[in-house]
Amino acid sequence: MTAATPLDPLNTLTLDQLRTRTSVKWREYAPDVLPLWVAEMDAVLAPGVVEAVSRAMRDGDTGYDHGFRYAEAWAAYAADRWDWHVDPALTMTVADVMTGIVYALGALTEPGDAVVVSPPVYPPFYQFVPGAGRRTIDAPLTPEGRLDLADGGALDRAFGEARASVRAAVYLLANPHNPTGTAHTPDELERLLVLADRHGVRVVSDEIHAPLSGRPGVDDVPRFTSVLQVPGGDRALALVSPSKAWNLAGLRAALLVAGPGAAADLAKVPEHALDGVNHVGVIAQTAALETGRAWLDEVLTALDTNRALLAGLLTDRLPEVRYRREHATYLAWLDCRGLGLGDDPARGFLDQGRVALNPGLTFGPGGAGHVRLNLATSRAILTQAVERMASVV
Ligand SMILES: Cc1ncc(COP(=O)(O)O)c(C=O)c1O
Repeated sequence: MTAATPLDPLNTLTLDQLRTRTSVKWREYAPDVLPLWVAEMDAVLAPGVVEAVSRAMRDGDTGYDHGFRYAEAWAAYAADRWDWHVDPALTMTVADVMTGIVYALGALTEPGDAVVVSPPVYPPFYQFVPGAGRRTIDAPLTPEGRLDLADGGALDRAFGEARASVRAAVYLLANPHNPTGTAHTPDELERLLVLADRHGVRVVSDEIHAPLSGRPGVDDVPRFTSVLQVPGGDRALALVSPSKAWNLAGLRAALLVAGPGAAADLAKVPEHALDGVNHVGVIAQTAALETGRAWLDEVLTALDTNRALLAGLLTDRLPEVRYRREHATYLAWLDCRGLGLGDDPARGFLDQGRVALNPGLTFGPGGAGHVRLNLATSRAILTQAVERMASVV
C-alpha cells in the first residue's frame, strides 16, 4: 500500500537538508549560492515512488527492463488526465527524452537535414540536433512567447527554408514550452500541423513537461494537449516522461509515442534503443503515474502559489523585471532588460547576489537580457532569492 502523501512537498525540506543533496543543482555552485537553475525540484519524493524503488532494491529486481507496464501506466494517466488515448503498442521505451528525440530524428531525417526549433528554447536542442548530424533552423516565438503561426511568419519562413535545401525536415516542438512555460492551445497545435504538413515538415513533440500543466480542479487555466490528440497529429511523434514532474531525472526513462500514421517511422527505431533503458528508472516512472497523482496535485497547487508569490515579489522589489505568469512547467522566464545588467543578467545575480539562474543567452535568439528561474522550491527560498536579486540592482 502507498503511504499517505506528505503535505506540501515543496515546503517540507529545509535549506540545510537540501544542501546535503549531491545532484548537479546543489553541487555546481559554492555553498553560499541559492540554486534556482537546472530543472530539478526541491521536493520530497512521492511516497509511492520511494516504496516501489525500495521494493526493487529489497527484492534485487535490478535486471534489464521488459514489457509494456510503463506505457500502459502512461496510457491510463493520459486518458484520465487529458482524454488522450495512447496505444501502448505504438510506443517504445527509451533511455530518456533527449535520446528519444535523437532516435525520432533518425527515423524521419537523414544526416544534413534540417530541424526547425523555436527559440528561446531548451538549450540542449542546440546540442543534440547537431550532435545527431542535423542542422537547426530558428523560427523564434512571438514577443508574447507563442508559436509564430502567421502566413509568412517565422514558422512559415523556417519551414520553407528547411525544405528548400534538404530532403526532409522536422519541427522540434517543446509542448509545453521551456523556458516560457507556454501551454500551446489545441487551436495553435492544429494550425502548426496544417502549416507543417503544407511544407512537408514532420513534427516531433517534446512533452516532458506535460504533467506540469494546469491546476487541479481549476478549469480556466490552459491544460495540456498533446500534439498527437489534435487533427493532423496522427503522423507526429511525441516524447513523454514523468521524470520532470515527479523529480526523477536521476532515474530517468522515457516513452517515444507514435501517432497511428507514424507507426512505420517508429518501427525504424533500432531495437538496440531498448538497451539504454534503466529498469529501476522504469519502475520509478511507472510508480509515479500509478500512485503519484495526489502528490503531483499538491505540487501543482504549490507552483501556482509560487508564481503568484514571484509576481508579487518582483512588483515590490524588482519592478523593472517583466514576468508573464504562465500555467505550465515550473520555470519562470524573466525579462530583465529593464535592469541595465546587460545581455547576461544571470552573471550579476550569481556573482553579486549569490543566486544561480539559467542565463537567457543559452536559450538561443531572444534570450539576451533574460534569465530562467526554477520555481520548484519552497516559498522561503524563493523569497530569499528575489531579495538577493534585488540587492544586485
Ligand atoms: C523540454 C525538455 N526536454 C528534455 C529534457 C531532458 O529530458 P531527459 O533528461 O529525459 O533527456 C528537459 C529537462 O529539463 C526539458 O526541459
